[in-house]
Amino acid sequence: MRNKKTPKLTLVGAGPGDPDLISVKGVKALASADVVLYDALINRELLEYAPNAKKVFVGKRVGLHTFTQDEINEKIVQNAFQYGHVVRLKGGDPFIFGRGTEEIEYAESFGLETENIAGITSAIAVPSNLGIALTKRGISESFWVVTGTTSKNKLSKDAHLAAKSTATVVILMGMKKLNEIVSVFQNENKGETPVAIIQNGTTLNEHIGIGTINSISEEVKSKKLSSPAIIVIGEVVRESHKLRSFYCEIKKQTNMQKESSMMH
Ligand SMILES: C[S@@+](CC[C@H](N)C(=O)[O-])C[C@H]1O[C@@H](n2cnc3c(N)ncnc32)[C@H](O)[C@@H]1O
Repeated sequence: MRNKKTPKLTLVGAGPGDPDLISVKGVKALASADVVLYDALINRELLEYAPNAKKVFVGKRVGLHTFTQDEINEKIVQNAFQYGHVVRLKGGDPFIFGRGTEEIEYAESFGLETENIAGITSAIAVPSNLGIALTKRGISESFWVVTGTTSKNKLSKDAHLAAKSTATVVILMGMKKLNEIVSVFQNENKGETPVAIIQNGTTLNEHIGIGTINSISEEVKSKKLSSPAIIVIGEVVRESHKLRSFYCEIKKQTNMQKESSMMH
């Protein structure tokens, strides 16, 4: 029998990982959900805000079936007609590399009422949590947020343009393209530009690698950093009060290397 509730889709941005970084509006939507379809990158603690809802995992899990976007779209519509209010809980902000608009458009093509509740994107919150201000008076006047993996599995062409600019550059989904990213910035003579790589930012499982364009690949190898991670490139990284000691250490090591090469 068809549910009497109005079928509805609400996209909710779950924030970057810290469960406290969700909006009050997002929590209210979860409380009224009949079904929650959630992604891999969301903090599972958030599901407790939806005690009465059916919870369905639709993310990617290593070694297990990965749901295609088409399958997720169908699940949204089926669940909405069967149960009523579907909350799609998505990492960060649903509209930042999150395919949120595709889900909205598909749901609306079946006449569903839709709503999007913005989330705190990892692109801003993850650096912020480490004291990295993406803009800073006198240091950086803007920032680019670029994908390392386009739909054609390529580094975005915008990364090349961003590397030419004086802006802070934030790259999502870029870990598999790190060598290419390094070359792009080296070609712009930016080998000494500071870089921070933050894996699982804002969570208890956060790991960071700090260096420069020239040194970051080694740092990633030695720290065994991998996805999900954010790459932040720009002078603002060196300005972070939380990372200052890393750069003092790097400077000390570089000076020692210089001295020892002069002695030999
Ligand atoms: C498909 S995109 C989704 C981005 C999301 N909509 C947002 O606004 O944060 C997934 C990528 O976001 C980045 N990401 C998301 N959460 C992260 C976290 N807690 N720490 C580091 N990177 C994260 C990684 O680059 C990851 O590969």
